[in-house]
Amino acid sequence: MASNSYSKLSLAFFCFSWLFALGIGQPFKAVNLGAWLVAEGWMNPSLFANIPNKDLLDGTQVQFKSLKLNMYLAPGGGAVLIANRPSASVRETFRLWRINESSFKLRVFNKQFVGLKNQGKGSTVVAVSNAADAAEVFQIVRKPGDPNRVRLKASNGHFLQAATASSVTADDGGSSDWGNQDPSVFTMHIVETLEGEYQVTNGYGPEKAPQIMRNHWSTYITEDDFRFMSENGINAVRIPVGWWIKYDPTPPKPFVGGSLKALDNAFRWAENHNIKVIVDLHAAPGSQNGFHHSGTRDGFLEWGESKIPETVAVIDFLAQRYAHHPSLAAIELINEPLDPGVTFGTLSKYYKAGYDAVRKYTSTAYVILSSRFGPASNTEFLPLASGLGRVVIDVHYYSLYKSFEKLSVQQNIALIYNKRASQLQEVTPSNGPLSFVGEWTSEWEVNNASMEDYQRFAKAQLDVYGKATFGWAYWSYKNVYPHWSLRWMISNNYIKL
Ligand SMILES: *[C@@H]1O[C@H](CO)[C@@H](O)[C@H](O)[C@H]1NC(C)=O
Ligand SMILES: *[C@@H]1O[C@H](CO)[C@@H](O)[C@H](O)[C@H]1NC(C)=O
Repeated sequence: MASNSYSKLSLAFFCFSWLFALGIGQPFKAVNLGAWLVAEGWMNPSLFANIPNKDLLDGTQVQFKSLKLNMYLAPGGGAVLIANRPSASVRETFRLWRINESSFKLRVFNKQFVGLKNQGKGSTVVAVSNAADAAEVFQIVRKPGDPNRVRLKASNGHFLQAATASSVTADDGGSSDWGNQDPSVFTMHIVETLEGEYQVTNGYGPEKAPQIMRNHWSTYITEDDFRFMSENGINAVRIPVGWWIKYDPTPPKPFVGGSLKALDNAFRWAENHNIKVIVDLHAAPGSQNGFHHSGTRDGFLEWGESKIPETVAVIDFLAQRYAHHPSLAAIELINEPLDPGVTFGTLSKYYKAGYDAVRKYTSTAYVILSSRFGPASNTEFLPLASGLGRVVIDVHYYSLYKSFEKLSVQQNIALIYNKRASQLQEVTPSNGPLSFVGEWTSEWEVNNASMEDYQRFAKAQLDVYGKATFGWAYWSYKNVYPHWSLRWMISNNYIKL
């Protein structure tokens, strides 16, 4: 009797652990659902296509050159705007805050805003000051047929003019022939654009954005995609979300409600198709890296110590909501915090608090700590992680940008088997946290690569990243650039899992 119940028990235990292992499916073969709940224009340009004046979204960096003086505008000494800079760089660059399709606030390199001084006294001097609320709204009037020839109209009804190099005034009342001699005419050079969630929602504005975003969320990823994933060997998804999801259905403007419902749907579809979910806080309040995918308005990194409580509250909200969902695998506390803007000390403090927030609701879900993006070492959080249970270190491996430009196919592949393999080993200690290659892709700097080259490159990465103890996640599931799309790579026989 006793031995019989013992063997039943051990059989039950054996089955349970086997099912448990099967169900959890680690190490994961995952894919990122990028550009879904956090918009990314480069991956999905059609979402941005119908925004009026879509080259002037929030965070667009512009420079203005006076044609008459042949000089660029910049904030000068004494907080006034001057027009005496012969060439343009950081100081001469203005970041747009879009009010509507033609009106903007202008933010300068040191985060001050352009405003008006001595309002009403004949010639109003253009100045810079700290307060966003007090900032002047300028209408950018484009020359018909020549959109980068512009005039800037202030709220006093006058156009800015650079009559002399030492100060810019808002006192030109008249019309213009748009000629080079008119001191109110400038050429506008767009240096850089941003295309993220802030840009798309504010670009469409409060009337149109809700409908457009909800349509995007319900069509970009559907249950069919989860079916496709499970039929093709994918057993987890990493889902980037933005901090505003906590405030759904009425997030702070310009963000719009509905992404929480989409995330709920993803959990349901994941359960239906035996897929696990990694929720990834991709966009933290204030922006942890200034990248377009951080929810930033203008590219400044303003996440830090003071944002920790609000960010922990977002994690708390997500953990509470999904802790007991059978599909939850992990919560990633923040994506790609940038070194040096985000310090090791601040991030450590946040990681401890974020970890505790998750553990209030679940002892089994993994907590993922993202490595800092930039020069910081990927091993810097190993000591912190070693003291916590069920923790994962996330590293992102891209073979892109300058240092990869001159590498051949063979050199790229060798780099994966050598350098990447040893880097991954460094964050895979035998008794410590698990490792996760949370982002990688098959695109590279090689031009004119053949299908076979791409297949070999993908296989090298699968071989090496397959050794990560928590698993890997491809960036991304869908993308207009085919090699960045795992769905395309699988459908076209470039990758087989
Ligand atoms: C844009 O905003 C400005 C300033 O608030 C306002 O004067 C203007 O009428 C608005 N234009 C449009 C097209 O909505
Ligand atoms: C190789 O790539 C370059 C740049 O992408 C392109 O201009 C060229 O036509 C390609 N050559 C071939 C043989 O495909």
